Formats: sequence, C-alpha cells, structure tokens
Amino acid sequence: MAKVRLEHVWKRFGKVVAVKDFNLETEDGEFVVFVGPSGCGKTTTLRMIAGLEEVSEGRIYIGDRLVNDVPPKDRDIAMVFQNYALYPHMNVYENMAFGLRLRRYPKEEIDRRVKEAARILKIEHLLNRKPRELSGGQRQRVAMGRAIVREPKVFLMDEPLSNLDAKLRVEIAKLQRRLGVTTIYVTHDQVEAMTLGHRIVVMKDGEIQQVDTPLNLYDFPANRFVAGFIGSPSMNFIRARVEVQGDRVYLAAPGFRVRANPVLAQALRPYGGKEVWMGIRPEHLGLKGYTVIPEEENVIRGEVEVAEPLGAETEIHVSVDGTVLVAKVDGHAPVKPGDRVELLADTSRLHAFDVESDQTIGHAQEKATVSR
Ligand SMILES: Nc1ncnc2c1ncn2[C@@H]1O[C@H](COP(=O)(O)OP(=O)(O)O)[C@@H](O)[C@H]1O
Ligand SMILES: [Mg+2]
Repeated sequence: MAKVRLEHVWKRFGKVVAVKDFNLETEDGEFVVFVGPSGCGKTTTLRMIAGLEEVSEGRIYIGDRLVNDVPPKDRDIAMVFQNYALYPHMNVYENMAFGLRLRRYPKEEIDRRVKEAARILKIEHLLNRKPRELSGGQRQRVAMGRAIVREPKVFLMDEPLSNLDAKLRVEIAKLQRRLGVTTIYVTHDQVEAMTLGHRIVVMKDGEIQQVDTPLNLYDFPANRFVAGFIGSPSMNFIRARVEVQGDRVYLAAPGFRVRANPVLAQALRPYGGKEVWMGIRPEHLGLKGYTVIPEEENVIRGEVEVAEPLGAETEIHVSVDGTVLVAKVDGHAPVKPGDRVELLADTSRLHAFDVESDQTIGHAQEKATVSR
C-alpha cells in the first residue's frame, strides 16, 4: 500500500494544456475517483501516475518515492484500462499468469496468486476458457484479475466498467475494501463516482474543481459546475434577484419569490439588489399536499409540462413564467401535463452562485464542524 501524491502537475501536448496545476494527496488505502466530462484530463492524469505519459511540469510521488523518472514497470502499480485487451490465444489462467511469468515468478507463487484472484473475482470456473468464450463482464473480471495478481501498491483504473454490469461496480468496491490497496479510478459517470469513491476529484478542462467526499460534494458544491454535475436529475438553476428587506432576504425570480433561511441570508446580504443563480435540487422541491416540506414563503406556482412516473417518485417539469424547473415529487401525487401546481421549496437546501464567476456564494445548510 502506498500514498500517491501529485504536486503542481501539468501536462501539455503542444499547445493543448490537458492538465493544469493538479494537486492531490491520497490516503493510504483510499479509493479516489476522478470524474468529469470527456476530455477533461482524467486519463492523461492517470497515465502520468502510471508513467505512460511524461509529466510536463510538477512532481509525482508513490509512497515517498519521486517517480517522475521511474519507468512504469518499476512503479509498483497495476492498471486496468478502458480498452483492455486479453490475449486471444491464451485461456483465462494464462492471461492472468502472463505478467508474473514475464517477471519470472516461481510457478507455485503464480498458481497461488491466480487461484486467489480467480476466487475473489468468482471466475474459478472459467480458468480454462478462451476470451472469446466469455461475456463482456467476465472479460472485465479477467482484466481485473490480471491487475490483482500483481499485488501492486496502487491500482489505477480507467473506466473499467464502461457501461457494463452495475453488479461488478459493487464488487469492485468490496474488493478494494478487502485488498486495502490505494486505488485511483477514472469515470465520466457521476453515479459511479458517488458510489465508489471515498473521495472524488471533480475535473473540468484539465482543472480540479473540487476534491471532497461524495456527500460533501452533494451538499456543499464549490461552484455551479460541481453543483450541476453531481446529482441526478441536475440541480435547477434560476436567475434571481437578491432583495434585502430589513432582516429578511429574498430570492426573487420571474413568477415567484422565496425567502432565504438565516444561513444563506447572511451570505446573500452583500448581493442585495444584484442577480445571482439560485440553485435547488429536484428532490428539494415538493408538491403541496404531498410533501413534508412546510409551506412558508417558499411557494412556486407553475404548469406541469412533463410528468414521468417512476414509482416511488414522479419527475415533473414545471414551467414557471418561462423557466422550467424539474421536481421529484411523491409518486402518488396525481399530476399530469397541463395541471397548475404549487411547488414548495425546501429553503434549508437552497444554494446561491455568483453569476460572473459561477463560484458558490453560500448554501442554506451549515457544514458540520466534525467530518463524517
Ligand atoms: N496524445 C495526445 N496528444 C494530443 N492531445 C491529447 C493527447 N492525449 C490527450 N489529449 C488531449 O488532452 C485532453 C485531455 O484528454 P483525456 O485525458 O483523454 O481526457 P478524459 O480522459 O478526461 O476524457 C483532451 O483535450 C485531449 O484531446
Ligand atoms: Mg479518458
């Protein structure tokens, strides 16, 4: 096991800056996920850690060792790629054993490691099969097995699950916990990131936007990008004017006005008279009569455009004076397109962002002083 540390790491491909001033230190045994849209620099960063890509500027440490000039094979890492390729002419056992054979491990040691990995990955019954006789998910397990048998200090995984079975995701999490190996996992899928990561690094355009636990990213996004990227459906953003009336602070948008709670009000006060982005997640909007959110100065009236029943909840798109808000309401609420409805906003879950910088102005929730 080892920590991985990146200090002021940059990557340039000619004029393209793929990674900008990347700083991160993992804990020992931590599961860190890099998430962000395609092209944001996730793979490039991972490849620099693996030693497959040179660092333009900055330092990378694995454990206490500066590895900038250490070749990949001496970094004590194992990587599972997006487009893993198994050797087609070798069976599963041979595919998993191959790397160890190259390194001249004793036969018994190879056998022990391959069987142990096969047991963990539940592919013992497939050891004699050729890759073409396997399903996509089974092939992915074999690719994972090839990495496990190396018993590396660090696992690097680049979208190893790309749209295959979600069950394997759960198993990767279990496996990582069990092996306790520091793991860096790349995905563009925020749900995958939220379920796997102890901590998540959210990236955009080669830059880290925020590094935090899944819940902190959800509750306390640092900017509008993170707020919109984490959570599904996405947070609603509404242009609103800040109205200060004595000790009351309101967010006023076309068609409605909600009162900020004291925590958010304090952050909004300097913006009195100005416009901000008000942010509220679909799950923090309820339908009057079908929600535990109390009615106060938080009513938003509009017309239902779309209603998608999902069972426990119904996702509705509500047009409010030209702006469409998405709300996740009680699945038993009788709503259909064309209905006039009253939504109640949970004012303890509002967010506000600067319209110029997109940075967070404030959240209605207070960050607990003790971390969870
Ligand atoms: N070998 C390369 N040469 C030039 N540009 C590259 C190369 N590899 C990646 N890039 C560019 O670097 C940026 C980051 O790419 P990448 O790390 O693959 O993103 P991600 O994995 O997040 O989708 C993109 O703009 C991509 O086009
Ligand atoms: Mg990639």
